[in-house]
Amino acid sequence: MLNNLIHRQSTRVLNLLPPELAHNFVLWLLARGFVPKLQINPIMFSEVSRDVFGVSFSHPIGLAAGFDKDARAIKNLFLLGFSFIEVGTVTPRPQFGNDLPRLYRLREDCALINRMGFNSRGLNLVSRNIETWRKKHYKPGQVIGVNLGANKDTLDKVADYVQGVKRISDLADYITINISSPNTPGLRGLQEGDNLVRLLDALNNIRASCSKRPPLLFKISPDLDQDSICQLVNTCVNAGIDGLVVSNTSISRPSTLSSKFSTEGGGLSGPPISNLSREALKTVRKVAPDNFKIISVGGIDSAEEATRRFADGAHLVQLYTSFIYSGAVVVKDILDDMVNKGLLECD
Ligand SMILES: Cc1cc2nc3c(=O)[nH]c(=O)nc-3n(C[C@H](O)[C@H](O)[C@H](O)COP(=O)(O)O)c2cc1C
Repeated sequence: MLNNLIHRQSTRVLNLLPPELAHNFVLWLLARGFVPKLQINPIMFSEVSRDVFGVSFSHPIGLAAGFDKDARAIKNLFLLGFSFIEVGTVTPRPQFGNDLPRLYRLREDCALINRMGFNSRGLNLVSRNIETWRKKHYKPGQVIGVNLGANKDTLDKVADYVQGVKRISDLADYITINISSPNTPGLRGLQEGDNLVRLLDALNNIRASCSKRPPLLFKISPDLDQDSICQLVNTCVNAGIDGLVVSNTSISRPSTLSSKFSTEGGGLSGPPISNLSREALKTVRKVAPDNFKIISVGGIDSAEEATRRFADGAHLVQLYTSFIYSGAVVVKDILDDMVNKGLLECD
């Protein structure tokens, strides 16, 4: 009880700092082992454990890509209760990303807008960080996804993804191909038509030569229309892709937004994209076969919202923005609520 109060107060204090500074500070603390003590009893959640695309998850709530882009704090992020962590987006070569400022808190809307532009320390460093974690800190049941991207100045985006898959396949429990960030020019074009087919062919070719082939997912935008989603799902299913992460941030700006930062450019996240993300999930579920797996992400901030996503056909959920606003206790709170409110029949 007291612990929870302290966590909530420190989250409020952190939210007074400029957003990217607060983010870097928290990551710095986590990477150095300053981690709040939460009483999470994994046994309590054994009812929600599940196997998805051949990987065992102790419960269905993970940390979405973008928080720990360089895999610096994996060990301690697991202590906050996430059952899986998606690191990245990682680009082959290090890059700074877009100019500052590039992250905004829309406090009144409990939302964020970011145009980070794939700030990444690159594949070599991230691979080394994951290797070190695996050797020194890995505990059974901890699942790491690696989210791959392309460098902004690359001449061949497909080649960047191929390089990522080749480098990371031995280290990741699953791989996400991020072709939906709104902050890298031209990237979202890979979600459609011949571009998508060419990318899938290239990925399947490289995977055939890898000794380990972790499940491969694509992360899509919530701004795709229904027809585009249906076409994308069919193409991915035919190519043998394991599933989708639905969804990334949105370039839309719902009229309900009231923060003065709502006109900033970039991707919107948090509750204002909940409906969009959920509609995209439902469309995917309608056209995809049962064995095509879906990780739902976008505006999930409560046990009720997570449960709705499972009812709509998600196998796992991730969150990011509610972690920023609610702080370290968010996973524990959601899991506790799922148990206490009897929301567990959600598989
Ligand atoms: C600051 C920030 C950085 C992000 N960076 C990435 C990224 O590098 N790769 C990615 O696939 N998604 C990234 N995302 C998107 C999240 O993973 C997630 O899909 C999105 O925020 C919706 O979930 P939420 O409403 O729970 O935040 C980022 C989101 C935020 C807020």
